[in-house]
Amino acid sequence: MAHDRVPDPQIFVSRRLPDQTESRMSELFSGAQLRTDDRALERDELVARLQDVDVFVPTVTDTVDADVISRAGPRLKLIANFGVGVDHIDLKAAHDRGIIVTNTPGVLTEDTADMTMALILSVVRRMREAGRMLRSGDWAGWAPTSLRGRRIGGKALGIVGMGRIGGAVAARANAFGMSVHYHNRSRMAEAAETALRATWWDDLDAMLPEVDILTIHCPLTEETDGLIDARRLGLMKEDAYLVNTARGEIVDEAALAAALKAGKLAGAGLDVFSDEPNVPEALLALPNVTLQPHMGSATVEGRRAMGDKVVTNIRVWSDGHRPPDQVLE
Ligand code: DGY
Repeated sequence: MAHDRVPDPQIFVSRRLPDQTESRMSELFSGAQLRTDDRALERDELVARLQDVDVFVPTVTDTVDADVISRAGPRLKLIANFGVGVDHIDLKAAHDRGIIVTNTPGVLTEDTADMTMALILSVVRRMREAGRMLRSGDWAGWAPTSLRGRRIGGKALGIVGMGRIGGAVAARANAFGMSVHYHNRSRMAEAAETALRATWWDDLDAMLPEVDILTIHCPLTEETDGLIDARRLGLMKEDAYLVNTARGEIVDEAALAAALKAGKLAGAGLDVFSDEPNVPEALLALPNVTLQPHMGSATVEGRRAMGDKVVTNIRVWSDGHRPPDQVLE
């Protein structure tokens, strides 16, 4: 929907962004307020910074809920998120106040899919345990029986959420000789399914016992919060692995740690956690878990492209047009 032009918007950016993005923002928008430190702001600090701005550029570390949105100043008209996931933003509250929300889809797909494969390989081939053994001086040399992981080729990969990232993971899994199963609200077109050699499961519970590795790629919503709970983990094979590069809340972390400890699951690779940057002790204590600090999109190229998208969304919006990555109408 067209709106009035905002030729020189005041823009608050909540975190340090890549140098190139910050330079472009400063060149294009004299009202860009960039941070000099990189501390995530507390709720009240954030609200204070949103009193006299037209545009807010948050990241996943900012909770932009109904309270923050209702306390933001009346000028706020665009939330241009630096990231694709928008679960930290109350979209309805923004919409009800006439605030447009944009994100950065497409440009972090391949990097996140790469990280997913890295986690799969790390946990299935026991790379973390092996690296630890080597560094601690416990490696006594090559031995026929030591550190045997599992072969990736021929295994069944289950993908929950077949969007851009799920599809990119499926393509990689094909190259590794895995079979692909997926659970998604809607089924892919037949041609896409054939190209990815993918099998659709309408019923997630029915897919779980069939897969050797389960990987999560759906957005965090009310429906997916706690989706992989103790009951569903119990449906998986005891020698299966779980990988999550989406959002921590989708998996019940306590139930996952308990299942791993009890030998009801072979291992897990996690890039995301429900209370970042806090990681549950129960997971930290386990040997068969690879843990990463939310870095699926952390490449120089990816973060630069995310910044470009943020700048484009703001520029198009300030010219009075619909920004290309508007999340809701
Ligand atoms: C994303 O883009 O959603 C990443 O997880 C960081 O927010």
